[in-house]
Amino acid sequence: MLAKTYGSAIIGVNAVSVTVEVNVSSGMGFNMVGLPDNAVKESSQRVISAIEYSGYKIPGKRIIINLAPADIKKEGTAYDLTIAVGILGALGEVDSVAFDRYVIMGELSLDGTLRPIKGALPIAIEARQRHCKGIILPEANAREAAIVNNLEVYGASNLKQVADFLNNEGTIPQTIVDTRAEFTQSLNNYEFDFADVKGQANVKRALEIAAAGSHNAILIGPPGSGKTMLAKRMPSILPPLTLSESLETTQIYSVAGKMRKEDSLISIRPFRSPHHTVSDAGLCGGGTYPQPGEISLAHNGVLFLDELPEFKRTALEVLRQPMEERHVTISRAKTTIEYPASFMLIAAMNPCPCGYYNHPTIACTCPPGAVHRYLNKVSGPLMDRIDIHIEVTPVPVAELGRALPSEPSAVIRERVIAARAIQTERFKNNPDVHCNAQMTSKLTRQYCQLSDQCRNIMEAAMNRLGLSARAYDRILRVARTIADLEASDQITPTHLSEAITYRSLDRDSWGK
Ligand SMILES: Nc1ncnc2c1ncn2[C@@H]1O[C@H](COP(=O)(O)OP(=O)(O)OP(=O)(O)O)[C@@H](O)[C@H]1O
Ligand SMILES: [Mg+2]
Repeated sequence: MLAKTYGSAIIGVNAVSVTVEVNVSSGMGFNMVGLPDNAVKESSQRVISAIEYSGYKIPGKRIIINLAPADIKKEGTAYDLTIAVGILGALGEVDSVAFDRYVIMGELSLDGTLRPIKGALPIAIEARQRHCKGIILPEANAREAAIVNNLEVYGASNLKQVADFLNNEGTIPQTIVDTRAEFTQSLNNYEFDFADVKGQANVKRALEIAAAGSHNAILIGPPGSGKTMLAKRMPSILPPLTLSESLETTQIYSVAGKMRKEDSLISIRPFRSPHHTVSDAGLCGGGTYPQPGEISLAHNGVLFLDELPEFKRTALEVLRQPMEERHVTISRAKTTIEYPASFMLIAAMNPCPCGYYNHPTIACTCPPGAVHRYLNKVSGPLMDRIDIHIEVTPVPVAELGRALPSEPSAVIRERVIAARAIQTERFKNNPDVHCNAQMTSKLTRQYCQLSDQCRNIMEAAMNRLGLSARAYDRILRVARTIADLEASDQITPTHLSEAITYRSLDRDSWGK
């Protein structure tokens, strides 16, 4: 007898339909065809054990399983349940009439218990697009899939439960999530708040500007000055995620298998902080079974590279393309996979190997030239994409105690939102540009026109500080954001002068 069940294969962050055909005939053996990888081939062992453990007999027959379409590579363990239910259908143990109404996926353990799978959200999206009635998944994935509207989601705990459900002999509770309510409820529920940071008004101001124009920034300061602490609070002052941004980010976490059982939507901006020993694939995505990397997990949020000069140069070089295109492309023998990767980069570094260059009270013990060499470990092209350099000096311990209460993130965020609204209006006819940091040279010239007085300030600064030409456009873009924070049409000398202070690393006196 022949039975057909339905599953999905994940390609990038999307799913495509896979049909599992099972034929049981006389003879002996178990064959699987249709481009399965090793993990899928091994499923026969798990599936047979799970079926027997669930109380069914597999007679000595020949079982052939075909995964179609044959040109898509089927990876992983998530087809176990699809195959098991297909076999039970072909054996006449399960009513196969129900099969074409559901997408059924899950990993089986030998006793028939279901284990979570990766990519439940895109699988559910695909099921709805195909007008399926519902989807049957492991319990742990149910909430993640249930954010898709107009699709019944059933989270099962074992194979027997699924078989009984399909035979109308038992029930599985339907998982229902009110997506919008869930989204609004947990929006801006950030763990870290700028109110915890004492003093550091100038650093907070610089980070506010970075958030307002979506400028990449680097924090430079001695150990213990609070760089990591400040960077962690960055997502809390960015504008709240929109529902569609939230869905994009959730889809990536779903594919990476990083959703917890109780999670349904990611509604706060992600903050990813990979260690400097991270591999290229870990950072940008890839691997034998392609997976999203840190830059995609940071999609719509912040990628924090702490101790920037310690990262391998090659890892930083591969960041260039995704930073420009806001997605990353991974090439495979027959296909290319794309993961979204639109993130804000916040980097941190000590100013020199000993950490105390430019420190107000402790002397730097580095030999001559060491400060420059340390900075040069960071690739130039990456540095080129960082608009704001922030020097962080530690708050003296005595002052930490008596500092006044600081502004909470929510107040800073309101100003950021207002500045972003001006930018949305400004770039409404440029679909690829959303904020000041993304302005091309042409747009920079158009929107950052300088008065004669400003031009003089700029020229004097370029000469006096020995700023390189590449600093010029960056200063203009940052000045534009500072003006937007004040809702000023014009860039004034005050705005420009402040923007000039955020180019410490370009000064030719740096490290001398
Ligand atoms: N301005 C501040 N307000 C409150 N606490 C602070 C402040 N600055 C530093 N701290 C405290 O000092 C700790 C160390 O800060 P943090 O780890 O962020 O420093 P860092 O600059 O990242 O140092 P390193 O270079 O060693 O990584 C923080 O966890 C925090 O408890
Ligand atoms: Mg740190």
